[in-house]
Amino acid sequence: MDVFEALYTTRAMRRVKEDPIPDNIIKSMIDSAIRAPSGSNRQNWKFLVVTDKNIREKLSNIYRETWDYYINSFLNSAKDPGASSLKKQNDKDIETIRRISNSASWLAENYHKVPLLVLALSRNDPTGSSIYPAIWNLMLAARGHGIGTCLTTVMSFETEKVFEVLNIPNDKGWTLNATITAGYPLGKWGVAERKPVDDVTYLNTWGNKTNWNLEQPLWNY
Ligand SMILES: Cc1cc2nc3c(=O)[nH]c(=O)nc-3n(C[C@H](O)[C@H](O)[C@H](O)COP(=O)(O)O)c2cc1C
Repeated sequence: MDVFEALYTTRAMRRVKEDPIPDNIIKSMIDSAIRAPSGSNRQNWKFLVVTDKNIREKLSNIYRETWDYYINSFLNSAKDPGASSLKKQNDKDIETIRRISNSASWLAENYHKVPLLVLALSRNDPTGSSIYPAIWNLMLAARGHGIGTCLTTVMSFETEKVFEVLNIPNDKGWTLNATITAGYPLGKWGVAERKPVDDVTYLNTWGNKTNWNLEQPLWNY
């Protein structure tokens, strides 16, 4: 696959089939992940691959509870006139979250059916940033194999419960940075819609807009 096709079409593919993912593809996803850069090349990471149905069901319960709590508190605080300005969201953001939350709620309800979960953990990384290139490599590799993924973090709010289910020691400094869900897509691939380049880019000095007029993505089908 062309690298730009992978870059432009790797997006949150939450709705996936129950069909298992072959071992050779899982191995390729992890082998691609570990090629990523990390601070001082320390590679202080572990990837916990979960395919076992019983374990996925246990994680599914944690995910659903955590997601429900997260989305309800977000929407309530967004509506609350007394909420702090940090918590207040503008209407467009709320609309975006509502749209995402339909797809995200599907994931929460069907989490137990997702055939593959990869938990990404790191330690001795105060910024928590060294793991993300590896996670993105994993997601791009999955895309190359026609597998849809979604990067999720809400389960990190319940790390203790997750660690217990998976026998992860809680005294060795591991942080659960993200869980990637993966499966063959139920929907179609498409190019992600984003804020235009000119809205989010400055040239040379802060505030100097680019005016590149990139209304359409530079790569498209
Ligand atoms: C750091 C991070 C955390 C995320 N956490 C969750 C999550 O917990 N649950 C979920 O369903 N999606 C989660 N997402 C997925 C985002 O909602 C998704 O990437 C975003 O809405 C863009 O979707 P798109 O690429 O399909 O346009 C997360 C993404 C990132 C980058």
